[in-house]
Amino acid sequence: MKANLLLFLAAGVMSMSACTNNSNKKTEAHTDSDSVAKTVMIPDSTNFQSDIDGKKTGLYVLTNANNVQVAITNYGGRIVSILVPDKDGKLTDVSLGYDKVAGYQQESEPYFGALIGRYGNRIGNAQFVLDGKTYKIPANNNGQSLHGGPKGFHAQVWDAKQVNAYTLELSRVSKDGEEGYPGNLTVKVVYSLTDDNAIKMDYSATTDKATVVNLTNHAYFNLNGEGNGDINDHILTINASKFTPVDANLIPTGELKDVAGTPFDFTKPTAIGERVNADDEQLKLGKGYDHNFVLTNSSTELKQAAKVTGPKTGITLEVLTTEPGIQFYGGNFLDGKLKDCKGGKPYQHRTGFCLETQHFPDSPNKPAFPTTTLKPGVEYKTTTLYKFSVEK
Ligand code: GLA
Repeated sequence: MKANLLLFLAAGVMSMSACTNNSNKKTEAHTDSDSVAKTVMIPDSTNFQSDIDGKKTGLYVLTNANNVQVAITNYGGRIVSILVPDKDGKLTDVSLGYDKVAGYQQESEPYFGALIGRYGNRIGNAQFVLDGKTYKIPANNNGQSLHGGPKGFHAQVWDAKQVNAYTLELSRVSKDGEEGYPGNLTVKVVYSLTDDNAIKMDYSATTDKATVVNLTNHAYFNLNGEGNGDINDHILTINASKFTPVDANLIPTGELKDVAGTPFDFTKPTAIGERVNADDEQLKLGKGYDHNFVLTNSSTELKQAAKVTGPKTGITLEVLTTEPGIQFYGGNFLDGKLKDCKGGKPYQHRTGFCLETQHFPDSPNKPAFPTTTLKPGVEYKTTTLYKFSVEK
């Protein structure tokens, strides 16, 4: 911690306004399946310096004692890059995204690395009733609301405070009525990089009027390195014996279905692609995996939700959370058409996956699901960790 703190001070990042200038930072890393070591870098911070909605954006870099580097922009609170060592010790960028803030402003961008709010995933018919009042929210996905609406938290500029080399605090007030949601919601998300190679995300929020809240992060991972093939060979475990089946609009039917005997059984390590094209109604509706899993331990204590390994690099991601659910999305909508992706590489079908810790989709309309209502005087508090290691 001490050496790292010195590094942080030396980098001159203590200045309150400036972001870490990493334009000289070069890191050896995998860039393709033939393991030709090329130099990949955290994107140039100047590509993230902009003025969006009258607010300054930048790129903030967290570094730990193992030289793991995580770059985050305050535009949408997005994780831009995650450089972690592979089985040979080479740093590999495992997170999909863009190397310029303008990339993240494109309408087609699929929430790369974003903080999602006020409500993660879908709310059916883009409306809900709270305390007897109907709230209509923008329908941005087949008549449903997805990820807090078009101007959700992913498209907002957050106030950023880099506390030290390990910690970035992001905060904002989501005004009463923003994207149709009631109550002024004061939100804080603290990203910390630990010396055991975990990105810790502490979410908290308070409101002055009853509202609904479901915050998550939408990082897309490819543990063989971003832009390095599809993720079907990744070995996945999800600690869930049930999932929430969906209808044609990807809204949960309300049922909690056993995973046993279905392609949704990831209770034992299984390749993502092994059953993804199976003749299964839920896989057809989701165009692959795009479902909420009900964690077997649904308590609010921090527990392991999922574990994934990229076989080419051995890089392993463990997801730990206090949340009761996790959305496993297998990158079904990636089709190679996104423009200006990092390193100029197109992201083809299923070349990234997301594990979004959350309360269940459409909970405001599903009284039997754990509640997502937040009332004044109560603090919303959740924690999720993305922890990296290597399995040889
Ligand atoms: C979530 C949803 C998916 C898709 C992605 C973004 O994971 O569940 O259906 O919308 O976000 O493309």
